[in-house]
Amino acid sequence: MYRKRFQRMMVLFLSLLSLLGLLAACGSAPASSGSTGASDAAAADAPAASGGSASSDIAVGIVLPTKDEPRWIQDETRFREALNAAGYNAEILFSQGDPAKEKANVESLLTKGIKVLIICPHDSVAAAAAAKAAHDAGVKVISYDRLIMNTDAVDYYVTFDSPTVGAQQAQFLIDHASGTGNPLYLYAGAASDNNGFAFFYGAWRVLQPKIADGTFVIKNSSEAVALQDKNELTREEQAKIMGQITTNWDFNVAKNLAESNLTAASDADKGDVFILAPNDGTARAIADTFASDKAVTSYVITGQDAEKASVQYILDGKQSMTVFKDVRVLVKDAISAAVGLIEGQTPASQGSYNNEAIDVPAIQSSVVTVTKENVKSELVDSGYYPASDFSNLP
Ligand code: BGC
Repeated sequence: MYRKRFQRMMVLFLSLLSLLGLLAACGSAPASSGSTGASDAAAADAPAASGGSASSDIAVGIVLPTKDEPRWIQDETRFREALNAAGYNAEILFSQGDPAKEKANVESLLTKGIKVLIICPHDSVAAAAAAKAAHDAGVKVISYDRLIMNTDAVDYYVTFDSPTVGAQQAQFLIDHASGTGNPLYLYAGAASDNNGFAFFYGAWRVLQPKIADGTFVIKNSSEAVALQDKNELTREEQAKIMGQITTNWDFNVAKNLAESNLTAASDADKGDVFILAPNDGTARAIADTFASDKAVTSYVITGQDAEKASVQYILDGKQSMTVFKDVRVLVKDAISAAVGLIEGQTPASQGSYNNEAIDVPAIQSSVVTVTKENVKSELVDSGYYPASDFSNLP
């Protein structure tokens, strides 16, 4: 009888212990640390344990591609806010555009006992090795915003609707063009990022009929001109075009490419121009370059990410639009998937993305075109940014 009660008590005690272990692993941040444990800029160079907490506390490791673009600082900030609010502990490391550093970051997190890795790969293919290392260590892998390609070592994908980002950019250009013969300059993201293809694919499908019917005339890509009668491009065909118009997600590359495109173009190829720019950072660089060319009388230019600097450019009339991707939603989805995976559940998905090895279950959130007209309602009234961050708000 006593023996039975003891057994029951032991079972209860052991379940309590494992529950506590799980909670510790989920890691309520120690009161003294006062932070999520997210590492600071130094960690980009030397991955370090999060401030004040035992390394075994860290159940979730987060790896972001670079601190050099405001987009990923937004994600870091939103992760910190969300993790703090939920009382979770996690470490955030940056790969600084270097797959070797990315892999080292993942390995460092593995030695700290993470159970889930949330990773936005710098290079969608190269990151497969880091994902495999995590899987081999029994760690679940969540691909964040960018899909890791050619591997079965990805458990879940949280993403925005990337083809729609490109489609909204293209539609904006179409909506602002009239007549025929409008000069069109095309720019794309990095070919090492699967999203670079997704955005271009989405944009091309919408733009192409308006190129074929003469509304737009492509001025900076002979490969795009050669394919201008084809609506559905293969990946290889897209890659050919992107080879001529890639910014590599780098502001300097974007600026230099725009400069050389304008140098090669005649004054007749300028005037009122239309520019497909893949994201905000490259849009600002390209816009500044076009603005300083005297033969360019006006330009319509797209963007993406609703970076603060671009929101100000929009308010100042220097960038025409951006596509707002609410990073708070992506972060929330990533954290709830991570908690689910830690608890042994299968996170809810809405379909899947094929990464050329498997169909990765995915959750996808929507995107919104933002212009001067709705910047206040979408970005300020929604609490995304404080009004005090901007001048010229309507
Ligand atoms: C992201 C964009 C970002 C770009 C450059 C893409 O994968 O989806 O939001 O602007 O990378 O970092």
